[in-house]
Amino acid sequence: MHLPSITAALALIGLSAATPVDLDARTLSKDKGLAQSWTSKGRQYIGTALTIRDDSVEQGIIKSPTDFNSITPENAMKWESTEPSRNNFTFAGADAIIDFADKYKKEVRCHTLVWHSQLPAWVSEGNFDNKTLISIMENHIKNVAGRYKNKCTHWDVVNEALEEDGTYRNSVFYKTIGEAFIPISFRLAAKYAGSKTKLYYNDYNLEYGSAKALGAQRILKLVQSYGVQIDGVGLQAHLTSESTASSGGGVTPDTDTLTRVLRLYADLGVEVAYTELDVRFTTPVTKEKLKAQADAYARVTQSCINVKSCVGITIWGVSDKYSWIPGVFKTEGAALLWDEQFNKKPAYDSMLKRIQKFDKS
Ligand SMILES: *[C@@H]1O[C@H](CO)[C@@H](O)[C@H](O)[C@H]1NC(C)=O
Ligand SMILES: *[C@@H]1O[C@H](CO)[C@@H](O)[C@H](O)[C@H]1NC(C)=O
Repeated sequence: MHLPSITAALALIGLSAATPVDLDARTLSKDKGLAQSWTSKGRQYIGTALTIRDDSVEQGIIKSPTDFNSITPENAMKWESTEPSRNNFTFAGADAIIDFADKYKKEVRCHTLVWHSQLPAWVSEGNFDNKTLISIMENHIKNVAGRYKNKCTHWDVVNEALEEDGTYRNSVFYKTIGEAFIPISFRLAAKYAGSKTKLYYNDYNLEYGSAKALGAQRILKLVQSYGVQIDGVGLQAHLTSESTASSGGGVTPDTDTLTRVLRLYADLGVEVAYTELDVRFTTPVTKEKLKAQADAYARVTQSCINVKSCVGITIWGVSDKYSWIPGVFKTEGAALLWDEQFNKKPAYDSMLKRIQKFDKS
């Protein structure tokens, strides 16, 4: 990070230069939140998924510079939202996200261009031949990435192309084009997204270092072998703090394992990030479960601290009130840093403490 000017420093703590204020350094550091602490250590962002809605408490936490300086549109930039029928682009939702980011000075991790899910049936069931599907991808990427040229600090170009065993998912893109759909997507994104935008491969369950993590490493090498731009690998990190019905026995790994996985990609010269972090458990909430969750958040945070090219951590929402988890995994939830009444949970404190203890030297 560059040395901040006093104006920039004031902006960081949410004040304008005109505000008369006693700049007590100790008070400031005590009151620093997640994003303010993280960026003061020279790293780029702490983010949240954003759905714009009528909840002033939730939206106020996101708007404030304290905890979040990056947003990811939860749904507004997905294919079904932006091109619901062929060559019919609908940008109201996505534009609102970009306006929000401009207004409240947030980075935007744009999400996502080529994904098998939340993909309209006209694409997935269109029976297009190879050449036609590539031209549909190009038209989509040109219009969506092109519209937000250089507005996105990052784009998740290809999302979830892998099965759990590390083989390719049999999506319409893979079935029709073969693995070349991945480097082709990155080549097109590089053409339209703007030179300021980092291009990512993004997937879940990479955190365990299993075959799927190696599959993502293979994808990274594949794109690099085409001589095409790829700047990062995003680990979604939809994790659990205990074995649950949905976790297949998995629990957030120890810090060393998480760190090793980040290095699988970082060692190939790209950046890494946690892009959709949440840590769920079987509800109801107990004190012990909150403690285990806080420890899991701390391990994830520490692993990112351990790897210099881990630029940021995005949490998949603010409050348990709106988390996607209970809607999908019925008996699980409470996965975020604020509870349903917007009280900060132990996980918030443990994450903040890790960041504050991080010695950047
Ligand atoms: C474009 O998509 C929107 C949303 O589904 C729909 O309301 C509209 O009729 C479509 N326009 C065209 C020209 O197909
Ligand atoms: C589809 O076309 C692309 C671009 O020419 C090529 O790289 C890819 O191998 C083709 N896929 C199939 C299945 O023929």
